[in-house]
Amino acid sequence: MSSLLLRSFLLVSAVVAADAFDWDSISSADALSWTACYDAPLECARLSVPLDYTTGASRAESVGNASLALVRFPANVSANEYRGPILFNPGGPGESGVSAIVSLGASFAGIFGAQFDIVGFDPRGVGYSTPGISFFATAAERAALIPNPPAIVYPSLNATPNAVGEGLAGYQLLGLLAEQNDAATGGVLRYMTTDNAARDMLSIARAFGFEKVQYWGVSYGSMLGQTFATLFPENVGRVIIDGVFDADTYYNSDQASAVVDLDKAVQAFFDGCASAGPAACPFTDGNSTSADLSDKFAQLGASIMKAPIPLLTTGSRGIFTYSALRNTFLDALFAPYQGGFSFLAQGLAALASPARNASLLYGEVQAPIFECTNEAEEVFGAGSNLEAYIAIACGDAFPVEPDLDALEAYYRNATQVSSFGDLLANVRLVCAGYNIRRNDTFRGPIGANTSTPILLVGNTIDPATPLAGAQKTSTRFPGSVVLTFDAIGHTSLTAPSACVAEHLRAYMLNGTLPKEGTVCQIDEGVDTELFPAL
Ligand SMILES: *[C@@H]1O[C@H](CO)[C@@H](O)[C@H](O)[C@H]1NC(C)=O
Ligand SMILES: *[C@@H]1O[C@H](CO)[C@@H](O)[C@H](O)[C@H]1NC(C)=O
Ligand SMILES: *[C@@H]1O[C@H](CO)[C@@H](O)[C@H](O)[C@H]1NC(C)=O
Ligand SMILES: *[C@@H]1O[C@H](CO)[C@@H](O)[C@H](O)[C@H]1NC(C)=O
Ligand SMILES: *[C@@H]1O[C@H](CO)[C@@H](O)[C@H](O)[C@H]1NC(C)=O
Ligand SMILES: *[C@@H]1O[C@H](CO)[C@@H](O)[C@H](O)[C@H]1NC(C)=O
Ligand SMILES: *[C@@H]1O[C@H](CO)[C@@H](O)[C@H](O)[C@H]1NC(C)=O
Ligand SMILES: *[C@@H]1O[C@H](CO)[C@@H](O)[C@H](O)[C@H]1NC(C)=O
Repeated sequence: MSSLLLRSFLLVSAVVAADAFDWDSISSADALSWTACYDAPLECARLSVPLDYTTGASRAESVGNASLALVRFPANVSANEYRGPILFNPGGPGESGVSAIVSLGASFAGIFGAQFDIVGFDPRGVGYSTPGISFFATAAERAALIPNPPAIVYPSLNATPNAVGEGLAGYQLLGLLAEQNDAATGGVLRYMTTDNAARDMLSIARAFGFEKVQYWGVSYGSMLGQTFATLFPENVGRVIIDGVFDADTYYNSDQASAVVDLDKAVQAFFDGCASAGPAACPFTDGNSTSADLSDKFAQLGASIMKAPIPLLTTGSRGIFTYSALRNTFLDALFAPYQGGFSFLAQGLAALASPARNASLLYGEVQAPIFECTNEAEEVFGAGSNLEAYIAIACGDAFPVEPDLDALEAYYRNATQVSSFGDLLANVRLVCAGYNIRRNDTFRGPIGANTSTPILLVGNTIDPATPLAGAQKTSTRFPGSVVLTFDAIGHTSLTAPSACVAEHLRAYMLNGTLPKEGTVCQIDEGVDTELFPAL
């Protein structure tokens, strides 16, 4: 079946090699015991938590325990200056907090200071936490149905007249496989929900000896933060949610209706390209207006839809399709300053040239060649972030009827909200195929009077989580403040800003919130140009 991309709602951090640390070498326990791991000064531990928090004392007889994988960039101060852990979630759902802190821990410690442990945890079911979320018994079975990342792309629902029906059937098949595999492996998927991940955060803080939680969550991490603050308002130490989901759309698998600023990011690409000129943006000939470039992209789409391009590269083989083209464009909108726009311009120019050279853009979506073994799933790193996304996001949400007419109408609506509705409507389709839900999962209402007011961060043009989501969420948490970041891209990690960093630090250290209406700018410098000279 076709695959889907979830990069849109997650932070892409560098992938940490699976064999860089042997998680099997440390055991899971109720108390934290740290071992050096990855590169100094990082340390790892595994914490046991109940899969089902409602069973209380009868943990031994119940469905059992999950083991959470934790990594910390340790504090580096005397005991009396120590301020405890800051937990980080990078998004998804399904992204590894361990991988994020292995790559970003040092820079986050630079923001918050050496008083804190900067802690990445793989939420239950994700990454190196066990049991993993998996719909398949073996990697070979998985490879037959869904490609490895980064080849996971949303199928465009514009691509064929029956794309919605085909997509739904494919997602229903995945849902059936999830049920079949879950029944054979102990029925754990129903516990892989955000409310339980929030309970795990309190367990982690308590294992550090703290009753109050300090947390920074980006993208989906904002749902985890909102959920935590609603369930445990008295345990809010400091909570920063950044790139804020509107919980109403999340619980209704309706993110496609939320992306009201996505087309502003699209416009920024075409405007920036037209004014940068061919030396910095080779997709323009120097005479084109922004509207010309938008037409040129549409024509390119029609050409690839009619005649997709086969590729054989070192390490991969496949076809560059219309869906792949749409996904590579969408991806670039999330991190435009980190070379996203510049890369897209070069890739589109090569594709639009007489040679129809797709190799640059294909590099973004190509799957490594699968090497077949029939070995059972590894304990660590079982499943894929696609399966984790489905189990968590769809398990959290209200059921979606697999009603094809309604889903067709939903897709048409989504294309009115944004020009990439053909991709984003998949977020609802996938949940229409998934049926593992607890009836007591927390699904709102979101909001509480928290013991400390929370800090929200929203970008002026965020393609996935518009500023409006932060503003709406703020009304649900009395005393909270929205810090606005005048930037394009997803979450405040899109570009460096000493202003944002200073506000995050003042809040974490002193509880100081920015004044209402504070707007931060990107740091000046060549690194932050949308189209730097090539
Ligand atoms: C879960 O952890 C608790 C506390 O460590 C332990 O008593 C219990 O035996 C564990 N349950 C299982 C099924 O391993
Ligand atoms: C910890 O602090 C000491 C003393 O200031 C310093 O020499 C050392 O480099 C610090 N370690 C890290 C990992 O930053
Ligand atoms: C720009 O447009 C003019 C007039 O149509 C044309 O002569 C010229 O070749 C164009 N330049 C480029 C770089 O396409
Ligand atoms: C396609 O572009 C790549 C660089 O992105 C280049 O290495 C390759 O030679 C080009 N292929 C053809 C057939 O022009
Ligand atoms: C489509 O949008 C309209 C107007 O916002 C709304 O009333 C309707 O419920 C939507 N339909 C679907 C299937 O989402
Ligand atoms: C939820 O499920 C449990 C176990 O299946 C059942 O006993 C209970 O009645 C259900 N509650 C509601 C509100 O449906
Ligand atoms: C916060 O507290 C006020 C005053 O008690 C109450 O009116 C309000 O409903 C509370 N808000 C939330 C979201 O709990
Ligand atoms: C935190 O408060 C202390 C004491 O008022 C002050 O010296 C310090 O500059 C503040 N730190 C930040 C980051 O605002």
